Amino acid sequence: MTTKQEKLAALLRSGCVIPVLTIERLEDAVPLAKALVAGGVRVLEVTLRTPVAIPAAQAIMAEVPDAVVGIGTILNPADLARAEDIGARFGISPGGTPELLKAAAASPLPFAPGIATASELMLALAHGFGLVKFFPAEQSGGIKALRALAGPFPDMRFCPTGGIGEANAATWLAEPNVVAVGGSWLCPTADIRSGNWAGITAMCNRALKSLKPA
Ligand code: 3PG
Repeated sequence: MTTKQEKLAALLRSGCVIPVLTIERLEDAVPLAKALVAGGVRVLEVTLRTPVAIPAAQAIMAEVPDAVVGIGTILNPADLARAEDIGARFGISPGGTPELLKAAAASPLPFAPGIATASELMLALAHGFGLVKFFPAEQSGGIKALRALAGPFPDMRFCPTGGIGEANAATWLAEPNVVAVGGSWLCPTADIRSGNWAGITAMCNRALKSLKPA
């Protein structure tokens, strides 16, 4: 792994569970981030899935200093540049085109591309990425698939996301090549829409208590 990726691995490991945030209304960004941080979840992935994603990430960075904000759903070099421009701490993609991998390898932004197959992993590796998102993790064969990939790629490190939740997060985290798990389960759309910030904090507290005992 490059130094940049070592840094990202340490960051994700410190987060343990990385909430994948889809923020529909800008005004939800800060209270949502505060609710997650209050529950002990500091490393956040704001996905570029809504028009307010970038201003939402900026608002969190400005108003929730304890949050470590990364940008997710980076699909192309332009998305990567947007993440870099706002000072995001890391970038994550569900996949990796040759153009994106080349741009990310040249960028100072710590970045994890997404892979679901051995060939995609080899393409990521060829661009210097030793830490990848395994996506969609459950749907792509789950832990059995991850263990199979560890055979030919013993040094590869993974952040699985997709289909991970309270019931299976601990099992994924017990895998030696998993640095953290990601997912949307800590920030359900219904809770964000209804402003159930206390509910989100409680869920984070519960998750960290079982996954990351002090
Ligand atoms: C992602 O981009 O990581 C996924 O959308 C998260 O998947 P989940 O909603 O199944 O947690």
